[in-house]
Amino acid sequence: MRLRWNRRFAFFLTATHAAWHELQLSIDGEAQSLGSDLSEDVHDLHARLVRAEQRYGGYVEVERNKISAKDVRVRGGNVAATLEALNARSRMVGGDRMSTDRHGYGKHYATALRKVVDTKRAPTVVEVGILRGSGLATWSELFPSGRVVGLDIDLSYAAENLSFLKEKGAFAARDVELYEFDAYAPDPAALAEVFKGDVIDVFIDDGPHTVTAIIRTLNAIYPYLSDECVCFIEDNDKVHHNIAAQFPDFQVEPLGQLTILHKKQ
Ligand SMILES: C[S@@+](CC[C@H](N)C(=O)[O-])C[C@H]1O[C@@H](n2cnc3c(N)ncnc32)[C@H](O)[C@@H]1O
Ligand SMILES: *[C@@H]1O[C@H](CO)[C@@H](O)[C@H](O)[C@H]1NC(C)=O
Repeated sequence: MRLRWNRRFAFFLTATHAAWHELQLSIDGEAQSLGSDLSEDVHDLHARLVRAEQRYGGYVEVERNKISAKDVRVRGGNVAATLEALNARSRMVGGDRMSTDRHGYGKHYATALRKVVDTKRAPTVVEVGILRGSGLATWSELFPSGRVVGLDIDLSYAAENLSFLKEKGAFAARDVELYEFDAYAPDPAALAEVFKGDVIDVFIDDGPHTVTAIIRTLNAIYPYLSDECVCFIEDNDKVHHNIAAQFPDFQVEPLGQLTILHKKQ
């Protein structure tokens, strides 16, 4: 009896110790994955990003008015029927990237953007899939003199919302640029027109999130990416395999639903 109890107690201690050890490891792992400078600056930047996204509208759900005729979800060439079916199933969601209540990408954005904030006064920041523009407004707040460019198949949600975003302080020093863009059928000539003589420092893909759309978009944008660029590819936890296979120049960092890319130096 006594022996059995002791054995159980010993087991309990061993198990507790193992759990404790694991906890320590996971805490160390967390600190490492945020880099050795899980510094106050990264925490501050994270807080700024979360607050900005909130102030510029926060979480929204919006009905689709337009999708690409080349969208892989379009069945039998019937865009209108696909649009209706998609809207019946779900809405487009925005303003959900930074907050830990939603995707919680904020700490990764803060970690990767720290260097850009420190080294570039007026970077070119490009976001694909802009919905109501809370992301664009956030970039403008981070880089008031930066060039902020929004690309989307349907610019109307952001265009209607610009006065609201400006009232809240966005785009005060430099206006945002919006261009129609189909992630399934990028137009190289149109992109050349927009980006000639410039390079992209920060690129965010929050468009249709399919592997096809992401790879086509990345191919089209690639010629304009600066050597020190950072790219954020959202909401697809598989596409990092395709990117690593097709873009040997990228250092690929898979972070669950988010993938971060840098050019290999
Ligand atoms: C998830 S929402 C973007 C949310 C926004 N980035 C934010 O932070 O609030 C997806 C966006 O992708 C756009 N989109 C859908 N299909 C597209 C396509 N083929 N090409 C470009 N944009 C597309 C939608 O119009 C919508 O604005
Ligand atoms: C702009 O978008 C936000 C949500 O992102 C919404 O709360 C606000 O009412 C919109 N304003 C206009 C003028 O559309």
